[in-house]
Parts: sequence; C-alpha cells; structure tokens
Amino acid sequence: MARLGIETEIVDRKLFASTVAWFREAKITLPTFAELAAPWTIPAAIREGLAAVGPDEAHPLNLFRVHWYNGPGRRAQVEVPDHVVLPEAVTGTKAQIVVALGRNFPMIEAHKVLAAYACLAPRVVTGQFDPTTHRALWPSTGNYCRGGVAISRIMRCRGVAILPAEMSRERFEWLERWVADPSDIVKTPGSESNVKEIYDKCAELDRDPHNVIFNQFCEFGNHLAHYAITGRALGHVFESMSARDPELRLRAFTSATGSAGTTPAGTRSTSTGCRSGRPSTPCATCSICTSAARSPAWCSTAPPRTMPPSRCSTGATEVDLFGAKKRAKTPMEVA
Ligand SMILES: Cc1ncc(COP(=O)(O)O)c(C=O)c1O
Repeated sequence: MARLGIETEIVDRKLFASTVAWFREAKITLPTFAELAAPWTIPAAIREGLAAVGPDEAHPLNLFRVHWYNGPGRRAQVEVPDHVVLPEAVTGTKAQIVVALGRNFPMIEAHKVLAAYACLAPRVVTGQFDPTTHRALWPSTGNYCRGGVAISRIMRCRGVAILPAEMSRERFEWLERWVADPSDIVKTPGSESNVKEIYDKCAELDRDPHNVIFNQFCEFGNHLAHYAITGRALGHVFESMSARDPELRLRAFTSATGSAGTTPAGTRSTSTGCRSGRPSTPCATCSICTSAARSPAWCSTAPPRTMPPSRCSTGATEVDLFGAKKRAKTPMEVA
C-alpha cells in the first residue's frame, strides 16, 4: 500500500468489489468530499433518513453529518456553519474575530471525526483497505483516535485507538463504549507530550500485515479534506458576514495545529475567489458571479477596497507538529 500521496485509481479491483458488497449488506453509503463541503447537496432521501438518527448513534448515516453545517442541536443542518464572533470588549481589538465551533460534529463533538473519515475513505474506495481482515489503527492523543474508532465502527471496520495512558478518564470511558474489544484500546506511556511513544508502538504494531496505521501527519486525505471541506465552510462564514457588511475584509486565518490538517483550510478560505456556492444573493459587482451565489468581498474579480489581493494574508498559523507542548485551543474547537 502506498504510504504517501493519494491514489486516484482503484488499486485492487477484487478487494474493491468485495468491500462494496460488504458495505451494501450493511446499507453503508459513503458521502463524497463534495457532499461534505456542500451538505445541502446530500440527496433528500439520506437527509430524511438522518432525521431519525441521533448524532451520537453508531449509525452509518452519521457519516453524512461529518461536516461544519450541523446546528447547535447537532441534528439539523444550518444555513451557515455555526460560529461565534468575539466582541471587542473581550478581544481588545476592533477586528472581528470569528470562532468556528467544532462541537457540533457527530459522535465525538470535535472536528477530528472529519480527519478520520478523510484518511479511511480514500483507502477504502481505492481497494487498499479490507474491512473484513484489516484493523484501522488510529494513533493520537485523543480526539483523532476517538474519531477513527467512531468512523471505523460506522463503516463496519475494526478500529484501534493508540493513545497515552495518562490522557483524560473521559476519553477512555468514551473509547470503552465504542471499541469492539477492550484490546482495541492500546495505552502508551505518558500523556499529551509523549507523541514519540505512540509512534514507537505503531512501529511495533506495523509488523503485523493486518494492521493499517492511519498516521494523520502523512495521510494526504487529512490535508485534502480540510482544504476542500473546512476551508469552504470557513469561507462561507465570512461570506455570510460580508453579505451583511460589504466593508469587511478577511485578514487572517489561525488554527492551533496538531497534525497540520486544518491549516490548508486557511489557504482555501483566504485565497480563492468566490466560495460556498450556496444559492443566496448574487454579486452585483461583476458578471462572472451571476450564475451562482456570490458575495463581492469574496469575488476575485471585484476590485479590492482596502488591500490588494496580493497582500491578502493567509494568516498566522501556529504549527506544533509533534504535539510536544500543550497547545492553545484552536478556533475550530469548542471553547
Ligand atoms: C480539538 C482539536 N483541535 C485541533 C486539533 C489539531 O488539528 P489538526 O490535527 O487538524 O492540525 C486537534 C488534534 O489534533 C484536536 O483534537
């Protein structure tokens, strides 16, 4: 199995066919990244079925909630991704600081469930992961491995969490409820800072050909999904704000990183032209934008008001690739 990059062709057709049959038997449908980026395009029949499923149920339809458009109740879709705008009284700056909320994601109440799907789904649909014989191994300090276990379970795969033994009791209690077998929780020495020990264990487990390690630091799906899905969603938040106040300009994106998965969302949400594609008010300033919903502040063809596009920053990004120190809360996560 290729370790880096992403396959664009089916690698093993026989395995692909048997996986399709395995999923069909369990009535599992996989959402495309495009559907998760624009969840209003999810077929109506699926959305109707989802209405009867709780956001924390181990149900395959919850794959269709792995996006930023879940409302505060986590069941229904909202028009614009849920967010809060921090007031000047709190921040001390006139700039509006917007925090997107990750708590509405299904099953684990954090956006890492998206990273997990983004890593597993490409391997499955290219015939590189056998849900009947492989075990999906999810190394992390907590949220990504919970996301991995949740996604594996609802995709009828065996998921294994590898995390430091001193992480919070809540994380382990959650894992105990979700794994197929207690041996699917592998505890490594230490706590949040002991990422090396997690990967030492992975190197050991990797010797078993039935184990497939989904290393979020190098799975390209993690990067791609955040670019395509998170970036577009955050762009939509800004789009909705600038529709109310056209003077607003997007200056920066920041996220506290673990695997650097969310950072490409900054590239997408701050650098491309018109974004969400969600039907709303057409842009009045140019002809290019008339076919779909556009907002002048996003439109790359509209004249800049205060800042030339070449200076539009992708923002400061704090990168802590090895999780060596306790990181600050990211704007993606629940405060
Ligand atoms: C709640 C939360 N926010 C942010 C991050 C970091 O995001 P990323 O790995 O996409 O850089 C993580 C884990 O890595 C996390 O669990």
